[in-house]
Amino acid sequence: MEWTIASIEEESVYNLGRILADYVRPGVVFCLSGDLGSGKTTLARAIIRNACNNVGEIPSPTFNLVQSYEVGAGFEIWHLDLYRLNNIEEAIMLGLEEALIEYCCIIEWPGLIEPIMPAHSIYIQLDFQDRNSSSLSNQRMITIKTSNPIMASFNGLHE
Ligand SMILES: Nc1ncnc2c1ncn2[C@@H]1O[C@H](COP(=O)(O)OP(=O)(O)OP(=O)(O)O)[C@@H](O)[C@H]1O
Ligand SMILES: [Mg+2]
Repeated sequence: MEWTIASIEEESVYNLGRILADYVRPGVVFCLSGDLGSGKTTLARAIIRNACNNVGEIPSPTFNLVQSYEVGAGFEIWHLDLYRLNNIEEAIMLGLEEALIEYCCIIEWPGLIEPIMPAHSIYIQLDFQDRNSSSLSNQRMITIKTSNPIMASFNGLHE
């Protein structure tokens, strides 16, 4: 399955996060790709804020690789930024293999861990809509691809 949201303003990212938060459950993996500043953390924050009650600040896990949030008893969202990951062993040391099964993972810069990514991951690609204006533009193009059957009810920004 594949969907494209041709242009999305920052204000609408929160709504997309609210819709995607409905799919937060054990074993669901959101894999966020796109250039620096394309909006991966912005979308991750929107999903986390909608899925968890009373979450405070949501820092980018740029340096500590992973930040976890409790959704319900014994169930967490793991938000990862693997830009600074050196090798796949480092991710395995974090406990990522278990987290991919037991928790919901939202992963920025997943490149190095592709060999252990579940087949049913939800792949989200973010692009600057207008290449020339780059990060000065507020529009993003978002493409979502997955073979995960839970996403069959997904209808873009329309609920
Ligand atoms: N439509 C939009 N969607 C998402 N972010 C937007 C949008 N328009 C503007 N922005 C801005 O673009 C920036 C995106 O930063 P963000 O940290 O989310 O990117 P990132 O992809 O996580 O970067 P990095 O690769 O460094 O982790 C923010 O400053 C945000 O305010
Ligand atoms: Mg980021």
